[in-house]
Amino acid sequence: MSGRAPDVAVECWGLRFQNPVLLAAGTAGFGREVARVVDLEALGGLVTKAVSVEPRRGNPAPRVAETRGAMLNSVGLANPGLEHFCAVELPWLASLRRARVLVNVVGNTVDDFAAVVGRLGAEPAVAAFELNVSCPNVAHGGLEFGADDAILTDLLRRARSRTAKPLVVKLSPVLPDPGRTAAAAAAAGADGFTAVNTLPAVAYDGSGRARLGAESGGLSGPPLLPVGVRMTRIVAARAGLPVIGVGGIRCGADALQYLDAGARLVEVGTAALADPRAPERVARELAALLARRRPAAARNAAGPGV
Ligand SMILES: Cc1cc2nc3c(=O)[nH]c(=O)nc-3n(C[C@H](O)[C@H](O)[C@H](O)COP(=O)(O)O)c2cc1C
Repeated sequence: MSGRAPDVAVECWGLRFQNPVLLAAGTAGFGREVARVVDLEALGGLVTKAVSVEPRRGNPAPRVAETRGAMLNSVGLANPGLEHFCAVELPWLASLRRARVLVNVVGNTVDDFAAVVGRLGAEPAVAAFELNVSCPNVAHGGLEFGADDAILTDLLRRARSRTAKPLVVKLSPVLPDPGRTAAAAAAAGADGFTAVNTLPAVAYDGSGRARLGAESGGLSGPPLLPVGVRMTRIVAARAGLPVIGVGGIRCGADALQYLDAGARLVEVGTAALADPRAPERVARELAALLARRRPAAARNAAGPGV
């Protein structure tokens, strides 16, 4: 056997990912912020933090808290806005050669999503969009976009009309019927799904005060693993489109669970906040596990591997 690393490249939406491991939205900024400590070019890619049309200040501090075995956050999708992203972040992201860039999109209205996708739709540095539809729809009393099939359909049709790039819908883990939502999104033009976003959660500090400034936040980290794996299984089976599995991944074996549930790619979030080298380690461990399972594929690593 040669000493070269097993080929675990993935072909998805006509794009080649050198391995299935990406950085999850909101946990690596726009990449630049973590580039000194994470070798981005060793990963399949990264998902940027949320980009909205206008800058967002986000939620009051504290924005993160630790709970037993997990993390709570209420960052509130703080970001410098679309124009700053185009002027400052995009040129840096364009310098990446091997890591693919997915832009996480957020908005207050359906038009906001379409505007971000429309502005970035022809940018060569942007491989795909991840639509964060777990955020409140201001025009509809704060109900999440993803919680209403008609609104989600409208959002996708409008976004679809503004770009030919892949539209990946990021789903909340508390959707009542994720299979139905996925089928509706697929019919409206979605190219794939990310499962899952954080789980809505609240924690108090013992003196009656909420631990997060916004009171309510999202739970991430290890407890999310079986939740995300279940959603991945349901969505992959029902929609028949590529799924990115995310939630609670700390090691290659965790990532493999998502692949076994039908995911094509995975994302690592909270584990990378604790240890910036975790995503690279997950990629290495996953490659070793896949090579053990598919020895022939690993030996044929000289081919295109996709
Ligand atoms: C601090 C923080 C910020 C996040 N920001 C975003 C975001 O901007 N957009 C988004 O879709 N998800 C965001 N997420 C959710 C993650 O991308 C991911 O779906 C979730 O944390 C579960 O993965 P994990 O358990 O590996 O962290 C954020 C999560 C954390 C912890």
